[in-house]
Amino acid sequence: FLAASATSTSPSQAIQPVLELPYAAKDAKRAASAVPFQLPTQLISFSYTPDRVLEFNDSSLRYFVDPPRGAQLSYGYDRWVRRPEERGRLDSLLKAWQKFGTERPGVLGEVGVVSWRGVMTKILTAPYEERDDWELNVMLVGGTMYFEEHLSEEKLQSKNDVEPRHRIQMYYGYSFESWCTSESPSPASHSGNPSQPTSDGHPPGWGGDVNTNVQWCSVVKTKLGNTRMVIGGEVDCVRGRYTGKTDNFVELKTSLTIRGASDEARFEKKLIKFYFQSFLLGVPEITVGFRTPSGVLSTVQSFRTIEIPRLVRGKPGAWDPTLCLEWGDRFIRELRDAIDVHSPPDKRNDGNLSDLPVWRVSFSPKVGITVKQLDDAGIMDVEAGDDEQRIGFLPKWYVEYALD
Ligand code: A3P
Ligand code: MG
Ligand code: MG
Repeated sequence: FLAASATSTSPSQAIQPVLELPYAAKDAKRAASAVPFQLPTQLISFSYTPDRVLEFNDSSLRYFVDPPRGAQLSYGYDRWVRRPEERGRLDSLLKAWQKFGTERPGVLGEVGVVSWRGVMTKILTAPYEERDDWELNVMLVGGTMYFEEHLSEEKLQSKNDVEPRHRIQMYYGYSFESWCTSESPSPASHSGNPSQPTSDGHPPGWGGDVNTNVQWCSVVKTKLGNTRMVIGGEVDCVRGRYTGKTDNFVELKTSLTIRGASDEARFEKKLIKFYFQSFLLGVPEITVGFRTPSGVLSTVQSFRTIEIPRLVRGKPGAWDPTLCLEWGDRFIRELRDAIDVHSPPDKRNDGNLSDLPVWRVSFSPKVGITVKQLDDAGIMDVEAGDDEQRIGFLPKWYVEYALD
């Protein structure tokens, strides 16, 4: 399954893959062996303000409250402040990681991977992905691989030009977050008749108008097999008081109300994404709001993240998380090996920073993964697009800090 070949540096020749990993879950003919995954622990957290300013505090942290049944998820749609889709830059995560490293130097040892949680979710669920392809940019700096999702101009544009029907469905997810959270820890649940406005003019239980600039993010350390990883991601809210630990984090999700066996199978299939998204940050609880097609909240059900695999086992929409972990571990090890083998020794570290290679990982559903080294035009494309000075996709300040 592994075809390694020399990287072409001539611009006139197509660049050959340095690694090919074909894969699909149905190809797994034997039981997956268990690759251990260490329980994530939080290193640092940060907030984005309504103006999308990063602050090292917990000002954007939200607290869970029970949402009113019958709540209208389209409420406030016309007041939604929507953050434009961006390229998946690592800058904020790197700022947090640098801050942690400066305040507590050397506590972690060698880290193999630094990534946003969304990218790790895509990697781990790839064996079961049947529809969406994706691409990553990868750099190896001082022994650590950095992963960034690569969005082509075309993909970025289509993510921003969402059809109205899809746009409102997206809003339902954010609106559910508002109905489920408050800005202060309070034992009281949202109550009352959701159609009766309160003194602030909003229906009771409304947690405030949606501004998707606002996010609270947790950066955790964990380990997959022998690879230590630093992963950052958004956490929707906490249940009760915030203690700085992941054990009362809550992930909020919406889904269409289940009306029959085929709906149920569809939901079970979807649970793999919910599961890994939460698992990777150590989020122990996933609260799902089931809604009607027109956005009325009908029921709410909480799942314990660790129990989800057992829930789907043997069902029509079944998936096996051990297979995903084994695949993820193999992907990381073989990617690292391929990069090591194909990196010119003089370009690997110090000296010529601007020559650091950038690798492109491409995933096709039911086919697998290929890895290529980007040529100069590819690197220029990755570096372009914002004001920050970059080496590949990493900010220059970070590469200098990391290799110092
Ligand atoms: P739902 O997941 O409830 O549909 P998250 O669940 O990750 O906290 O994201 C909150 C909401 O953002 C989602 O709510 C969904 O509406 C929207 N969203 C997240 N990822 C998305 C994606 N890849 N495509 C479209 N919408 C997305
Ligand atoms: Mg979220
Ligand atoms: Mg959510």
